[in-house]
Amino acid sequence: MCGIVGYVGPRAATPIVVNGLQRLEYRGYDSAGIAVVQNGSIEVRREVGKLSNLVNLLAEQPTNGHLAVGHTRWATHGKPSQQNAHPHRDASGEIVVVQNGIVENFRELRESLQAEGFEFQSETDTEVIVFLIALHYAPEGGLAEAVRKALGYLKGPSAIVALTSREPDKLVAARLGNAGGVAIGLGDGESFIASDIPAILEHTRRMIFLEDRQLAVVTRDGAIVQTLDGQAVRPEVHEISWDPISAAKGEYRHFMQKEIFEQARSLTDTIRGRVDFAAGEVYLEDMPLTAERARSFDRAVIVACGTSAYSGLVGKFMLEKIARIPVEVDYGSEFRYRDPIIDERTLIVTITQSGETVDTLAAMEEGRAKGAYLCSIVNVIGSQAARMSDGVIYMHCGPEIGVASTKAFTSSLVDQYLLALFLAQLRDSIGPLARQKLVDDLARLPELAGRLLDADANTVYEDLAERFHRYRNFLYLGRGINYPVALEGALKLKEISYIHAEGYPAGEMKHGPIALIDRDMPVVTLAPQDEVYDKMVSQVEQVKARSGIVIAIATEGDEFIRSRADHVITIPAAPPLLTPVLSVMPLQRLAYEMAVRRGADVDQPRNLAKSVTVE
Ligand code: M6R
Repeated sequence: MCGIVGYVGPRAATPIVVNGLQRLEYRGYDSAGIAVVQNGSIEVRREVGKLSNLVNLLAEQPTNGHLAVGHTRWATHGKPSQQNAHPHRDASGEIVVVQNGIVENFRELRESLQAEGFEFQSETDTEVIVFLIALHYAPEGGLAEAVRKALGYLKGPSAIVALTSREPDKLVAARLGNAGGVAIGLGDGESFIASDIPAILEHTRRMIFLEDRQLAVVTRDGAIVQTLDGQAVRPEVHEISWDPISAAKGEYRHFMQKEIFEQARSLTDTIRGRVDFAAGEVYLEDMPLTAERARSFDRAVIVACGTSAYSGLVGKFMLEKIARIPVEVDYGSEFRYRDPIIDERTLIVTITQSGETVDTLAAMEEGRAKGAYLCSIVNVIGSQAARMSDGVIYMHCGPEIGVASTKAFTSSLVDQYLLALFLAQLRDSIGPLARQKLVDDLARLPELAGRLLDADANTVYEDLAERFHRYRNFLYLGRGINYPVALEGALKLKEISYIHAEGYPAGEMKHGPIALIDRDMPVVTLAPQDEVYDKMVSQVEQVKARSGIVIAIATEGDEFIRSRADHVITIPAAPPLLTPVLSVMPLQRLAYEMAVRRGADVDQPRNLAKSVTVE
């Protein structure tokens, strides 16, 4: 969602901030703006639409200063417009604020500020923050104290950065609740602020992450961090190991395309260093879980949103089969509203690429309050989910920039497989021979993925996309462990190509969706040769009997399916629990090729955000 980038130092601030915002474009936004301290006053430029519009405006009306903050806004309160774009200014024009999050009590605050004579220029909730800071600003406490006081009035999650021309050497950043991250980058005589690491990674790898209810005064010499109650904090300085190159598109047309094709490597990175293949053992470096605690769990609950939730539905099969622990899967957005039955015997596994999805974080808070063990599967290092957890299993798949999740999905499947093996070790739920077999299966996975991604170049996908990209509805069918893959395939298609697609458990088709089958609704069928293969073939027959069009994802060498389906995409034969890692890849590629032909904005689909930091 919204993105924030700040800079203070000797260099020209505007290009650094704009460049950082460009690296956050993937988060999703509909307007952008920047505030720069220039010759003792603040220059603000804001524009609706893409960042390129702001860049054009800056070319016409340049700014020049060494301290600035920029923002990309994803509208929540008030439509995308220049007035509603951040940064917001107080009446004097000497204080500005950018914000991620939502001020839940902004109406009452707005009314009381209006009663005191403040005149609002926008429809946003953010403007109350800048007026509250202005109201509380006093030279002795300065900006930091005013921010602290202002935040005392706010309900709901907020991450803000404020600056004032009265103190032109500092930015003040603060975090209240889970409104996305606030990373502070420590350079050599310069400092950076960003809502997400890739924005500033090219400048520094040394970063501090603000926790809930912390505030930082950021100058070119570094950052002084305190709690909102004024307690000094000694923040941990993280060394980020990501390679900035891996956050660039390289030879690919889109980030999504790059991320699909790098999955053989990302899966290797997910597995690397965690498995002793000779001993058949798994080591999870950030999972301090004793055998005693692992044995105490009577069930696991996987909680996540979107693609990560579908990953959890696959993980249920892995955890139940390997670790022999009953598993329930729920959406983060539903979980906390049903007063879930959780206690200290519950293992909560959250899956979140960004580590900042507010609904997933809320589920973790619910679990924490009820004494559950919190394990999270996370990609973004140092993110809120990682910090809140008792144990973390990083995806290690590198930055995922495309809004549509691809490599994080497959890495999170592997992480759940590793978790299942790890729990099996601790709980003695399977014997060493069976464990060795599962570990050997895993060892082959990256090579199988590489073969699949290299095979038949793009032609099969290009041909299918050429033929079908104008269709308006698709049905995706899967069964058993491949049912969640059908859900994920349908989600990929709808979110990037805007074609309506529905994922369904194949056996349920005859209970309703079969009424929809005709020549206008292709049916994508996941039919690898597994234990439900025969059942899938009979679904294919049922679709064909109603003149439907079938696109089957099948195992290499399966000639029989070719005689039944209209189109076949093959995947290498793989062990059943790992098949979804492969079977999803053709669906990612198909969705990608369709979206490209429809001229859609593949990496930043309309209305979507990479990390969903509002409810
Ligand atoms: O960062 P998270 O994994 O917590 O994100 C969850 C969903 O918002 C995300 O998977 C979303 O569904 C993607 N657009 C899917 O491609």
